[in-house]
Amino acid sequence: MARLVLCVLLVVPLLGGCDGAWNQRQLRKRIHQLREIQYFKSFYSRLGVPKGAPYVPAVEGYITQPLDHFNRRNNATYKQRYWINEEFWQRPGGPVFLYIGGEAAESEFSVLSGEHVELAQKHRSLLVSLEHRYYGASINQDGLTLEGIRFLSSQQALADLASFHMFISQKYNLTRNNTWICFGGSYPGSLSAWFRLKFPHLVYAAVASSAPVRAELNFIDYNKVVADSLSDPVIGGSEKCLDKVKDSFRVVESLLKVGNITQLEKDFFSCASLHPPDDYTEFVSNLADIFMGAVQYNNEMPSSDVRKICQQMISAGSAYEGLISVNAIYMESMGLKCVENSHEKTLSDLRKTELDPVGVGERQWYYQTCTEFGYYQTCEHASCPFSPRITLQSQLELCTKVFQITTESVFQAVQFTNEFYGADHPKSSRIIFVNGDVDPWHALSVLKNQSHSEIAIFINGTAHCANMAPSHATDPPSLQKAREEIAMKIGEWLKSAREEPFLGSALS
Ligand SMILES: *[C@@H]1O[C@H](CO)[C@@H](O)[C@H](O)[C@H]1NC(C)=O
Ligand SMILES: *[C@@H]1O[C@H](CO)[C@@H](O)[C@H](O)[C@H]1NC(C)=O
Ligand SMILES: *[C@@H]1O[C@H](CO)[C@@H](O)[C@H](O)[C@H]1NC(C)=O
Ligand SMILES: *[C@@H]1O[C@H](CO)[C@@H](O)[C@H](O)[C@H]1NC(C)=O
Ligand SMILES: *[C@@H]1O[C@H](CO)[C@@H](O)[C@H](O)[C@H]1NC(C)=O
Ligand SMILES: *[C@@H]1O[C@H](CO)[C@@H](O)[C@H](O)[C@H]1NC(C)=O
Repeated sequence: MARLVLCVLLVVPLLGGCDGAWNQRQLRKRIHQLREIQYFKSFYSRLGVPKGAPYVPAVEGYITQPLDHFNRRNNATYKQRYWINEEFWQRPGGPVFLYIGGEAAESEFSVLSGEHVELAQKHRSLLVSLEHRYYGASINQDGLTLEGIRFLSSQQALADLASFHMFISQKYNLTRNNTWICFGGSYPGSLSAWFRLKFPHLVYAAVASSAPVRAELNFIDYNKVVADSLSDPVIGGSEKCLDKVKDSFRVVESLLKVGNITQLEKDFFSCASLHPPDDYTEFVSNLADIFMGAVQYNNEMPSSDVRKICQQMISAGSAYEGLISVNAIYMESMGLKCVENSHEKTLSDLRKTELDPVGVGERQWYYQTCTEFGYYQTCEHASCPFSPRITLQSQLELCTKVFQITTESVFQAVQFTNEFYGADHPKSSRIIFVNGDVDPWHALSVLKNQSHSEIAIFINGTAHCANMAPSHATDPPSLQKAREEIAMKIGEWLKSAREEPFLGSALS
C-alpha cells in the first residue's frame, strides 16, 4: 500500500508512503499515538501541572459543509469538525492562524501545541484548525463506500477551507484587517501552499512543512533518500550499514527463490504461512517498512531510529541475523506478537467501509493516491536497498482491486494534479517551504527559493515535519535556525500586512 504521508504534528501530518503493507499501517498508528502524547506533554508543560480538572482553552465544533462544492444542485452535506483557541488572541484586529488537517483524525492539540501555537502566542493570534473531510469525525456514515467516497479530493478540501474562512469571519466579525496565515505539514503542507496559491485573497501567507507538492506516480526517489539516510553519518548511518541492509534483503530473496519459506516465517514471526506471490511481496514490504519508517520518523520512535537500527545491523554476525534482530526489536517496540503478511488481509482492510473516528484514514488516503497523487514508493530501481518485488504494478493493482480505478486513470490523475497546482514550481508568493534532508518526502517538495517571497528552507539532519513540533531544548542547531527563519518571516509579513492592509493579499 502507499506509505501515507503523515507528518509529525499532533495533528499528525504523517504522509506515510504508499506500499500498503501492514507494518506501514501499524507504524502510522503508533506514530499518531506518540505524537498525541508528545503534544499533550508539551501543552501541559506550558500550562503547568493542572490541579483538578485541567483548563483546556480549545473549543470543538462542527460546521455543515456541502458534500460537493462544485455542484450547487447537489444539496447533500456533511459535518466537518474544527477547533478554536482564543487564549492568545488580541481582539479585534489580531491575526488568525489556520492549522490545516490531513489524512488522519485531528484533535484539540491542533490549536494547543506546536510551532504554529508558539508563533500564535507571540503574535497574539486567534488559532483555528479544520479536520480534513472524510477523516476522523468529518465524514458521513456512508462516506467510505465506493459511491460515498467520490467527493474526497484536495480541491474539495480547499473549498472547505474557503467556506471555513467565511464561517470564522462571520462568527468573530473579522475584517480584512485580520491577517490569516495557514500552516500544515506533509499532505496538509501541500494544502497550505495550495490554499495560498488558489485563494490569495483569503490567506496572506503560508507555511508548508515537508509538503510533497509534486505528485508522482512512481516515487523512486523515496527509497533513494532512505538509502542516503541509512548511510548518512550525521544521523548515525554508514556505508557499512547500508551495505548490510542490502545484503540482508538479498539473502531473504534467495531464501524466497529456493523455497525455504518456513525458515523465513519462523525467523520473522509471520502470523500465517506465506503464499506466493502476493504474500511474498507483502512480507518484504513489511520488512522494508521498518527501515523506511525509521528514516521518515527518525528520532520520533523511541526504539527505531537510524542510529539504533544501524547499530543492530552492524553488531549482528551476518546481515541476515541483523535483519532478524531489527525485526524482533521493532516488533517488541510495537507490542506485536507476529507480523501480518497476508495480502488478502491488506485488501480486506482497505475495502472496509466502517468508519474509524480515530487514527489514520488508510482507505481514504489510498483512494487519494489513486485519484490524485500516486506517491507509490517502489523498489525496482538500483538505488533501492530493499526488494525489487516492491513494484509499481503491485501498488497500482490495489487501486483496481479496491476502488476499480484503472492504471491509466491513476496516471492521468497524477499529471492533472501537477498541472492544476504547479508541482514543485508553484507561481505564488509568501510561502515558506520547509524540509529536512533526512526525510524521503523532501524529494517531491520545493527545495530552492522560487522568488523573493516563495522561500525554501532545507534543514540539515532532520526528518519529516520536524519544525512543526513544539520547540525543545534538544533541537539541533540547524532546526533552531530554521525555526528562527520561519519566525522572522512571519513577523516580517505580519508587519507588512499591517502597513498595507488591503494591498497585500495578491502582491508579493
Ligand atoms: C435535496 O434535493 C432533493 C431532490 O433533488 C429533494 O428531494 C430534497 O428534499 C432536498 N433536500 C433538502 C434538505 O433540501
Ligand atoms: C458581531 O457583530 C454583531 C453585530 O454588530 C454583534 O451583535 C456581535 O456581538 C458581534 N460578535 C462578536 C463575536 O463580536
Ligand atoms: C482596519 O484598521 C484600521 C486602523 O486600525 C481602521 O481605520 C479601519 O477602519 C479598519 N478596517 C476595517 C475594514 O475594519
Ligand atoms: C533454510 O535456510 C536456513 C537459513 O539460511 C538454513 O539453515 C536451512 O538449512 C535451510 N533449509 C533448507 C531446507 O534449505
Ligand atoms: C532564500 O530566501 C531567503 C529569504 O529571502 C534568503 O535568506 C536566502 O538566502 C535565500 N536562499 C537562497 C539559496 O538564495
Ligand atoms: C550537516 O551537519 C553536520 C554536523 O552535524 C556537518 O558535518 C555537515 O557538513 C552538515 N551538512 C551540510 C550540507 O551543511
